[in-house]
Amino acid sequence: GKVRAPTHIISTISDDRGEEPCYAGVPMSSIVEQGYGVGDVISLLWFKRSLPRYCTQFIEICIMLCADHGPCVSGAHNTIVTARAGKDLVSSLVSGLLTIGPRFGGAIDDAARYFKDAYDRGLTPYEFVESMKKKGIRVPGIGHRIKRGDNRDKRVELLQEFARTHFPSVRYMEYAVQVETYTLSKANNLVLNVDGAIGSLFLDLLAGSGLFTKQEIDEIVEIGYLNGLFVLARSIGLIGHTFDQKRLKQPLYRHPWEDVLYTK
Ligand code: ACO
Ligand code: LMR
Repeated sequence: GKVRAPTHIISTISDDRGEEPCYAGVPMSSIVEQGYGVGDVISLLWFKRSLPRYCTQFIEICIMLCADHGPCVSGAHNTIVTARAGKDLVSSLVSGLLTIGPRFGGAIDDAARYFKDAYDRGLTPYEFVESMKKKGIRVPGIGHRIKRGDNRDKRVELLQEFARTHFPSVRYMEYAVQVETYTLSKANNLVLNVDGAIGSLFLDLLAGSGLFTKQEIDEIVEIGYLNGLFVLARSIGLIGHTFDQKRLKQPLYRHPWEDVLYTK
């Protein structure tokens, strides 16, 4: 009989062999003719399925909210310095992207992992936060450099408002809010940040849509899909900062001596 030669690559998300490319089996003409948006394309290429409108709208809101947060944050700062050193678009972009990690923008996956584990094990917010403290781990998704209990992050409020109106269940988000209530009782800067809001709400999206098995949810959380939302979103802003610096013909950046403590 026929023997299939072994392939060197396996791919399951897209196919370019036919007359038109397909994303998770959906041809490009349907994507365009049926008015799909970026949220639908992310659903197809990341989750390999079409998601209901409230889910794709939520994904698009995350992308819009995280697209930029001004020139002073780690990522934009790096991009601006790199663009001013005369580097090209891709170099300026990746220099900003490389700052995304556990402290800045890349805490979404860990927030989802820790909130899920604590909620599923039935830990009270007190037990969860104190157990993290004992392990010497900062709670991912909690804390911000400039946001405070009396100066909340509007982005978090907008995400919560959307989810409360459209999601069938927001139990992980409510748990994250209870954790925030406890951490705020310890210090005023320990707010639920945008990473924590997206991490907890994405758990609700995955668990509440009824479209993912428990095993699929565990895999998504374990592999860590969710930082991808911040990386994708912030690329929009970092590209904008690169163009801005080039348009303004800004010279090479050098940090002022006065702002450095030279000491032994
Ligand atoms: N969990 C528990 N305690 C915390 C946390 C936290 N997430 N964040 C701060 N603290 C406490 C600690 O006691 C800390 O003291 P330590 O340095 O001895 O650990 C104290 O608050 C002061 O912390 P600072 O370092 O001054 O806080 P800073 O303002 O520099 O940090 C940051 C802000 C980096 C966001 C921090 O809160 C943190 O690491 N959070 C977890 C990671 C996270 O969620 N990052 C995403 C932020 S949102 C975004 O980037 C889009
Ligand atoms: C951001 O979205 O970049 C911020 O929340 C981080 C910051 O330092 O403001």
